[in-house]
Amino acid sequence: MTFLAIETSCDDTCAAVLGNENQVLSSIVSSQVKLHELYGGIVPELASRRHCENIRWVVEQALSEARVTLADIKAVCVTKGPGLVGSLLVGVAYAKSLAFARKIDLVGVNHVEGHLLSPLLTNPDLTFPFIGLVVSGGHSSLYLARDWHDYELLGRTIDDAAGEAFDKVARMLELGFPGGPVIEKQARNGDPDAIKLPRAWLGRESLDFSFSGLKTAVRTSLGRQGEVSEDFISDLAASFQEAVVDVLVRKTLLAAERYQIKKVALAGGVSCNGYLRQRMSEAAQSQGVGFFLAPPKFCTDNAAMIGLVGSRRLAAGQIDDFSLNPSSRLPL
Ligand code: KG4
Ligand code: ZN
Repeated sequence: MTFLAIETSCDDTCAAVLGNENQVLSSIVSSQVKLHELYGGIVPELASRRHCENIRWVVEQALSEARVTLADIKAVCVTKGPGLVGSLLVGVAYAKSLAFARKIDLVGVNHVEGHLLSPLLTNPDLTFPFIGLVVSGGHSSLYLARDWHDYELLGRTIDDAAGEAFDKVARMLELGFPGGPVIEKQARNGDPDAIKLPRAWLGRESLDFSFSGLKTAVRTSLGRQGEVSEDFISDLAASFQEAVVDVLVRKTLLAAERYQIKKVALAGGVSCNGYLRQRMSEAAQSQGVGFFLAPPKFCTDNAAMIGLVGSRRLAAGQIDDFSLNPSSRLPL
């Protein structure tokens, strides 16, 4: 069965075509980075307007790369939240129109569920149950994934998301947008122990996260410095990255130990970070836990992960009708 997936929850316009066994036949992402970097962050209205302009050719490109036509598509899956509501509305309205015109099934998908399960796209050895860490620009959450659509939220951020902290710190250091990749690059030249920064453990047992104190500490170090050299920026970037990674790694493996789960999976845009990947992999190995991740193209926003989840919902008969309405704060 061939189906189309659409994702427009934030600033990337994405479409994918999946075939039998969730084989990804195409996955197109039209990034809006160039537009939003002018403002140092995402401007919601501009994001919605750009989705309006892009959605048609992104879908056409996905169909053409998969060498199928709309007549081959048996269902359309679309992100219904959480995210920027103006952005979500573009994808949902487009998907509804396709479903109506082609008389095919419509399936709404939770964006965070897409991220959480994205490592399944490329890891046939990853089976339930597993501990999943979703770290992106909007989310930092730790889940026990027991089965398809059966998740327990073990911990989440009480303030900023990890990716948001990367973006805000990059802006403070005047490194550009999005912050994750530029901080990672700058940190390669720095000493991660050079500047003492706090780790918010929130108590020995807590699986929640907090990154706003760390962000403030970076701002304080920067203010104290006066003259800021390139070396200082590199040290600050490396020390910040170290603090974020320490907390993400420790809490993920604490969850695996507490729930006696032998597999951990890392997902979301921040999981593109090479240093996080390396540290999580080493820590998992030393604890005898399997470690799984998706390639970077499936870590950041993409429609393949939406198709993966949508196909299971479809198989379970969880089909939406035309009253489908996106929700900016949809929980998982
Ligand atoms: O999953 P995603 O594309 O969108 C959301 O759902 O938020 O994640 C985007 C986030 C941004 O905050 C970006 O700075 C972060 O992922 N990111 C990274 C890296 N690449 C992207 N963070 C740290 N290191 C990276 N290499
Ligand atoms: Zn995302």
